[in-house]
Amino acid sequence: MGRGSPMLPFDAITFGLALAALVSIVWTSFRVGISPMPSSRKAQKAIISAIPDHTQGLIIDLGSGWGSIVFPLAQSFPLATIRGIELSLIPWAYSRIRAALSGHSNLDIQRGNFQTNSLVGAKVIVCYLFPDRMKSLKSKFKEELEPDTLIVSNTFRLAGWEPEEVIILDDIHQTPIYRYRVPAN
Ligand SMILES: C[S@@+](CC[C@H](N)C(=O)[O-])C[C@H]1O[C@@H](n2cnc3c(N)ncnc32)[C@H](O)[C@@H]1O
Repeated sequence: MGRGSPMLPFDAITFGLALAALVSIVWTSFRVGISPMPSSRKAQKAIISAIPDHTQGLIIDLGSGWGSIVFPLAQSFPLATIRGIELSLIPWAYSRIRAALSGHSNLDIQRGNFQTNSLVGAKVIVCYLFPDRMKSLKSKFKEELEPDTLIVSNTFRLAGWEPEEVIILDDIHQTPIYRYRVPAN
């Protein structure tokens, strides 16, 4: 195709869809305060190691993004139900399609806002968010989760709560993975 050739209809559609997907991701990242950046491989391993073997019941990833942590969780904890809650349309749609193809029967990826979704019944909460959101989640955790429920947070701490363990990753940021228990009231 020469330099001055017009864009073919197929190219224009592909370009339009890619642009719409990009705008959707950027717009939702601004709305929720964080992009769908995935947990690193090292963080995934550390998060899994922070959850007791043979855990059963509901494990929720708050903001499951592209599904980087829910898939390894579904693999590592076959007796548990892994629920991802994600607001951003494109990462959610991608992870839903991947979940359908993966054949994991213990994986449930929902589109929604975890701040308005109930966390009642969860045995473990996993998250990779940002300081202000962690702050605002503390009261929700106390209201909706049983005392002693496990919370594993990539990078960001729950200010004012004492972690029962901090795993420091062997990466350039020495990323911390915090493990908390919901305190008894
Ligand atoms: C840094 S990513 C982490 C993705 C995944 N949990 C992981 O560890 O790989 C944070 C995700 O949380 C999502 N998110 C932030 N606030 C949300 C909310 N209120 N409801 C649902 N998803 C939210 C963002 O869209 C983003 O995809």
